[in-house]
Amino acid sequence: MRSLIDIVDFSVEEIQQLLETACDISENPAKYAERCRGKKLATLFYEPSTRTRLSFEAAMYELGGNVLGFSEAASSSAAKGESMADTAKMLSCYADIMAIRHPKEGAPFVAATNATIPVINAGDGGHCHPTQTLADLLTVYRENGRLHDLTIGCCGDLKYGRTVHSLISAFSRYDNIKFVLISPEELKLPKYVKYEVLDKNGMQYVETTSLEEAMPQLDVLYMTRIQRERFDSFDEYERLKDSYILTPEKMAAAKPTMRVLHPLPRVNEISVKVDEDPRAAYFRQALNGKYMRMALILKLLKEAEEGKQMEPVNAVENSALICDNPRCISSTEQELPHRFKLVDAERGIYRCIYCEGKKTLG
Ligand code: CP
Repeated sequence: MRSLIDIVDFSVEEIQQLLETACDISENPAKYAERCRGKKLATLFYEPSTRTRLSFEAAMYELGGNVLGFSEAASSSAAKGESMADTAKMLSCYADIMAIRHPKEGAPFVAATNATIPVINAGDGGHCHPTQTLADLLTVYRENGRLHDLTIGCCGDLKYGRTVHSLISAFSRYDNIKFVLISPEELKLPKYVKYEVLDKNGMQYVETTSLEEAMPQLDVLYMTRIQRERFDSFDEYERLKDSYILTPEKMAAAKPTMRVLHPLPRVNEISVKVDEDPRAAYFRQALNGKYMRMALILKLLKEAEEGKQMEPVNAVENSALICDNPRCISSTEQELPHRFKLVDAERGIYRCIYCEGKKTLG
């Protein structure tokens, strides 16, 4: 079934349709109140969540549908060792669509290749978070009035912040976008996102450690939390956790039209005093997440009725291609074949189909 695993699974035209549907839902909620009557959404959350899970659930209820699911791995049969593939087959018997958050990168993709209902990636490890990106796009569209001709600052944990990876992929398809990548040296954007998304699409970007210097040029400031749960070393997290704190004083250097986004939860990286600034758009962004998830559920259920399928992945198996990313779903689900897609024939670069971990042959 057609699923949403990575934001680039949808074309720019499809995203535009989702934005327009979400705007219509926010203006005319009664029109949509019965659209999913008799349908069930399963929410499979193996990692903590407030916004994503509850906005999915609110979205389905506001469409007239029902919700079932779990909010921690310990209360599911994953705790007894059930595989992602078997779980996806089970849920296909009980629900019409499912949303999955999982600490292992590629878990929603494995579910999508085994389910007979649409699967939505609600965040997989440090890899992707496409429905957050849909919320981000709607927020920029409504607040800045356009998705082109923008200078976008991404600040904080650009290494582990999956929302930033999805955001950069999404905006790399719009005209005249410039990224300012603001992070400590240790938390810079992964090379694969730089080379295979930014460079491949000819995007303009600069890297800096200074939020203050970047501030005056930005149309959007996308703040992120330092992702404590992804660090191997607690000391390293303690050293980096307060690298950036946005304050009213720093906001004084920003354009009057700039907007501050944050996927939330915040820890310490935005002072609560910034909340009063009309340019602080992060709570409106969380509401936009519900409208976009409503639009997404409608789209995927309609496509399921039409029998639309996922694009097949052109992958190879080769004994020299073994994924060694410990966060990849293939590291814990031993029966999964190690499969790779060729992304750069000239340099012999392959990417794991689950987590996009890199391998070079030749
Ligand atoms: N933005 C986001 O993913 O929030 P939750 O972790 O609360 O779902």
